[in-house]
Amino acid sequence: MILDFSVDDELCTRCRKCVDDCPSRIIEQKGNDLPFIPEDKEMYCIQCQHCLAVCPTAAVSIFGKNPYDSMAISYEKLPRLESMMRLVRGRRSVRQYKDENVDIELIRKLLHSLANAPSGVNSRKLTFRIIDNKAVIHRVREKVLAELQVAIEAGRIPDRLSYLMNAVPAYKDQGRDILFRNAPHALIISASPDAVCPNEDVTLALAYFELLAQSAGLGTVWWGMLKMLLESLPELKPLFGVPCDHVYYGMLFGLPAVSYLRAVQRDDAARIVRIE
Ligand SMILES: Cc1cc2nc3c(=O)[nH]c(=O)nc-3n(C[C@H](O)[C@H](O)[C@H](O)COP(=O)(O)O)c2cc1C
Repeated sequence: MILDFSVDDELCTRCRKCVDDCPSRIIEQKGNDLPFIPEDKEMYCIQCQHCLAVCPTAAVSIFGKNPYDSMAISYEKLPRLESMMRLVRGRRSVRQYKDENVDIELIRKLLHSLANAPSGVNSRKLTFRIIDNKAVIHRVREKVLAELQVAIEAGRIPDRLSYLMNAVPAYKDQGRDILFRNAPHALIISASPDAVCPNEDVTLALAYFELLAQSAGLGTVWWGMLKMLLESLPELKPLFGVPCDHVYYGMLFGLPAVSYLRAVQRDDAARIVRIE
């Protein structure tokens, strides 16, 4: 790994903020000299870029990144608690969608922001697989329903997955799409098995995506049905591009065809226990 760590002599105030904030404690500074990373410590860098982010004078560069290319962050620029609470409380699982593609540029913007979600030891072993064209999801749905029908007839779906079994008659007889919720798009996030916290990384990234997407006026719903489907019929994993050894989870999304005018009332839905 080449860190390419450099500090601008004229801009650096020798404040030691980069030294003190480095989680691996590999940045050193002697007296009034410039901070540096000894060569034998470079391998302990977790690539978090905190040194670049924390520098008050934009003097630090790492991996060749220009600090002036970073988005400026300050408390005044962050959403207020009131806005965040409204987002968290107003987020709903959306199960009615417009039959329209979401602007591809918006999807791209959301995914690039999402790459900033936290990951255990900053291992960043995630892949975002996106269905950004409704024609693709229509095609996948037809294929899945046909395969599911065959599997049900062959008795391959366990009784406990009655939800999954209902998907075929619900779609054929009533036009109800339990599997894909008629969403035009899907995001499947997977983590390679060498990630430090693969389950947490995947779930976190999807939770961030949900909030980002809903703040942009999109609807989302967690895709537990995909998990049920692929656990029962793993041969369908290639259809979604999910490598067999990856931890994964999915989310459906699109332009909502329903709006919620008020939040639900479940502030007391979790037990809060004070540890003293
Ligand atoms: C892990 C997980 C998997 C889910 N899977 C599905 C799903 O496959 N289909 C669906 O319609 N809703 C799914 N949901 C949505 C839940 O049913 C929903 O969160 C719950 O009913 C509360 O509603 P709300 O999200 O609108 O607050 C899932 C939610 C979670 C957290």
